[in-house]
Amino acid sequence: MKKAKIAVLVSGGGTNLQAITDAQKNGIIKSGKVTLVISNNRSAYALERAKNAKIKTFCVTKKEAGSQTEFERIITEKLIENEIDLIVLAGFMSILSKDFTDRFEKRIINVHPSLIPSFCGEGFYGLKVHEAALAKGVKVTGATVHFVNEIPDGGEIILQKAVRVHENDTPEKLQRRVMQQAEWKILPAAVEICCVNILKQKEKKQ
Ligand code: GAR
Repeated sequence: MKKAKIAVLVSGGGTNLQAITDAQKNGIIKSGKVTLVISNNRSAYALERAKNAKIKTFCVTKKEAGSQTEFERIITEKLIENEIDLIVLAGFMSILSKDFTDRFEKRIINVHPSLIPSFCGEGFYGLKVHEAALAKGVKVTGATVHFVNEIPDGGEIILQKAVRVHENDTPEKLQRRVMQQAEWKILPAAVEICCVNILKQKEKKQ
């Protein structure tokens, strides 16, 4: 069976990358295969996870590239060279320009640790999202997988899952629960949905 080629872009721990590779193994992702992991951080543990899973890795930092344009040019070159069909931002902590998102329209998805449109946009990433949710006193939060366009966290929503906030939550506890109950489930599910659609589009073109 034909599979869509997936690149996962990471910056940190890579638990969402792990969820994707686990989902490949247990058949939740059937229509795609991760063939490339790109990091913008040389010390990202996600790179270790990729190596353990025998996935090709590539790393470029914005500092090494010298500018946003050059950074994105290098990444684009790698994506094209590897014939990538779907780009998954899984804890990728770098905002991408309109040039980049336009080039890969409906081919980039992102996982965000809140129920968009709450606690999202520029400045809302990682633990900060959960700190803001607790400061507001929300009783329910969650995670969202959405298409990526030029507006940070602004693209069309693909899947969402709600998670309860507990009274004694810390940002760290809440982050872990949102990952376990929502992110690690909806991200692989959304990847499969997108891969199925990409394969259908490709078939039509033939
Ligand atoms: C995840 O919670 C992800 O949703 C979040 O960073 C964490 C990365 O964890 N992403 C954002 O906040 C993007 N705005 P991971 O490296 O273990 O997958």
